[in-house]
Amino acid sequence: MKLRDLTNLIKKDFVAHGIDDVSEADFLVAVCLNKKRNDVYSDDDLAKKQERLVLKWARKRIKGIPLSEISHKQNFYGRDFFVNKNCLTPRPETEELVLLVSKNDSSKSVLDLCSGSGAIAITLNLEFGFNCFASDVSAKALKVAKFNAKKLGSNVKFVKSNLFEKINQKFDIIVSNPPYVTNEEYKVLDRTVKNYDPKISLLAGENGLYFYRKIILDAPKYLNKGGKIYFEIGESQASAISSLLERDFEEINVIKDLEGKDRMICAKLKENL
Ligand SMILES: C[S@@+](CC[C@H](N)C(=O)[O-])C[C@H]1O[C@@H](n2cnc3c(N)ncnc32)[C@H](O)[C@@H]1O
Repeated sequence: MKLRDLTNLIKKDFVAHGIDDVSEADFLVAVCLNKKRNDVYSDDDLAKKQERLVLKWARKRIKGIPLSEISHKQNFYGRDFFVNKNCLTPRPETEELVLLVSKNDSSKSVLDLCSGSGAIAITLNLEFGFNCFASDVSAKALKVAKFNAKKLGSNVKFVKSNLFEKINQKFDIIVSNPPYVTNEEYKVLDRTVKNYDPKISLLAGENGLYFYRKIILDAPKYLNKGGKIYFEIGESQASAISSLLERDFEEINVIKDLEGKDRMICAKLKENL
């Protein structure tokens, strides 16, 4: 079969099964066969084995499995990260958090708390030259992060830690995308998120603020003078998190994402601390 015919076949199948975004078919074929998106309409002949693999992936996609779970790959800031059911699949909005942190001087040291697949720390290290530490409570997520660091050639150091429990040094910058979904939100969360991202990476108690509260309370002990803290936040959490920051932090800034939603916050440790 020609590559073009297979892509068209899958496109039709996706539409018939209610997958409205037809570019998903192009994407799936490209990722599966390791091709560029523009090449999936070429008249290359496919080997039977390749054809079978693409059809197998397409069937899984039709069943509602996200492409990242099928391919075990998620592109983040131009690099392919390995992902599996043990870590949150890094989201495009988190690239915006990385970009925000990158505006600092790259000689600064960074702790990425709740590091999941390692996407934040590894990107800050490889793309911008920061000296990064990363920690997560999940041994399985850390295994994925260490694998990614090795595969991508990063020298991020990892430690298994319940928040700051095993951290015994200070940093210039703490960055975190912690769990922030409330119990109520979790109940109505999209099936693809609930089924494929670990619960531990999402849930943060009654009002979703559990991790922010804990991190903000302890962060001053782990920040150098003039240190900064950066969070990804849920879109309705900016004012509650700003209030939590007020005691020990100044220059509190809420930053909107590309969709205009309040999705990041940063602040500087008060001078007198
Ligand atoms: C929202 S995910 C973020 C993952 C990654 N930083 C990203 O942006 O893609 C939150 C992460 O927090 C970790 N986590 C949950 N509870 C934790 C705790 N008590 N201490 C450290 N990490 C924790 C989870 O294992 C998960 O990897």
